[in-house]
Amino acid sequence: MASTKGLEGITATESKISSIIDDKLTYVGYDIDDLANNSSFEEVVYLLWNQKLPTQTELDGLKEELNNNMELPKEVIDHLKSYDLSTVHPMAALRTTISMLGLFDSEADEMDEEANKRKAVRLQAKISTIVTAFSRIRKGEEPISPKSGLSFAANFLYMLNGKEPEDVEIEAINKALVLHADHELNASTFTARVCVATLSDVYSGVTAAIGALKGPLHGGANEQVMAMLKEIGSVENAIPAIEKKLENKEKIMGMGHRVYRNGDPRAKHLKEMSRELTELTGHSKYYEMSIKIEDYIKENKGLPANVDFYSASVYHSLGIDHDLFTPIFAVSRVSGWLAHILEQYSDNRLIRPRAEYVGPKGQKYTPIEDR
Ligand SMILES: CC(C)(COP(=O)(O)OP(=O)(O)OC[C@H]1O[C@@H](n2cnc3c(N)ncnc32)[C@H](O)[C@@H]1OP(=O)(O)O)[C@@H](O)C(=O)NCCC(=O)NCCS
Repeated sequence: MASTKGLEGITATESKISSIIDDKLTYVGYDIDDLANNSSFEEVVYLLWNQKLPTQTELDGLKEELNNNMELPKEVIDHLKSYDLSTVHPMAALRTTISMLGLFDSEADEMDEEANKRKAVRLQAKISTIVTAFSRIRKGEEPISPKSGLSFAANFLYMLNGKEPEDVEIEAINKALVLHADHELNASTFTARVCVATLSDVYSGVTAAIGALKGPLHGGANEQVMAMLKEIGSVENAIPAIEKKLENKEKIMGMGHRVYRNGDPRAKHLKEMSRELTELTGHSKYYEMSIKIEDYIKENKGLPANVDFYSASVYHSLGIDHDLFTPIFAVSRVSGWLAHILEQYSDNRLIRPRAEYVGPKGQKYTPIEDR
């Protein structure tokens, strides 16, 4: 029984949520370009969870539910305050806090569909409050309660910065959230599905998924892209620095993809946002560096830029701390995880593949004193 390293090319489940076919990404059959240009994040959440776009009444209902569920239990805030957050990565804090939230949800282990949908709303609503509260607490500031009437994207920025955001900032975050919401059977979504396929609970599934997203080969890449751009320092140094990294067999973060061969359809939207926002905020050098690196890697390695490459300079120009880039990815992707968790429960079978054994065979036990 030969194994397929990294499960490359293996189709592990059926899904009605999103697809990548011929380098095109769709959510429930809607092209990502169409959604990125026209949709709010809340509409996408509704789409992923219900496999249809909402009517105005349905959308208003979801927005209200999200707004009503954003507050965190006081114990969770107190818990965050009890740590020295200056040494804690926000993805580690997010993973632990999401798990902790399950302790304050009396329905955590209720497994019927309606209870799981209610938990999905709570998790989607609370995740942005956790990320923003973490950010404020570590700066010695009090967390800010969400403001009713603001969109999900606007509330995220409001709770992060303590002031109502400009339209251009809301549009950027909304579009970034839409673009990151789901992505077929990516590593963290697969993790979530494997976890809940044991009939474990929703909180466990999302906690496991956050752990998988944290790694630099997955969601953690966006923070690493910004670290790389800072290290390179100038547009003139971009190509020499990349050449050196390739000589040293280092991977260039934000480049390459397991599925896309000719390009990640999300990257062009983030690239355009990066161009606009870096120009608006006086950070153009990061955009200029990024296009040089993208062109060089495409030409010399045949690898496309992925979603993480330009999101780094987008978030940087919005003044967001670099270690919050991956948590923002989670704030969006939790919508996809929850859609997949609900889908997994709806037609469940334990996910349990096999391993090809390549270790020694036929060994005989020797008593410890003879070894
Ligand atoms: C996304 C990623 C994990 C896909 O990995 P994968 O399908 O397993 O591909 P591999 O790591 O096996 O790479 C295949 C080849 O391309 C090279 N390669 C892939 N991504 C590369 C990168 N970002 N920089 C330099 N070389 C890269 C590998 O070194 C390997 O070369 P080799 O065959 O000469 O050894 C990989 O491209 C990567 O590590 N990218 C950087 C991290 C990143 O941006 N992650 C976010 C993904 S959305």
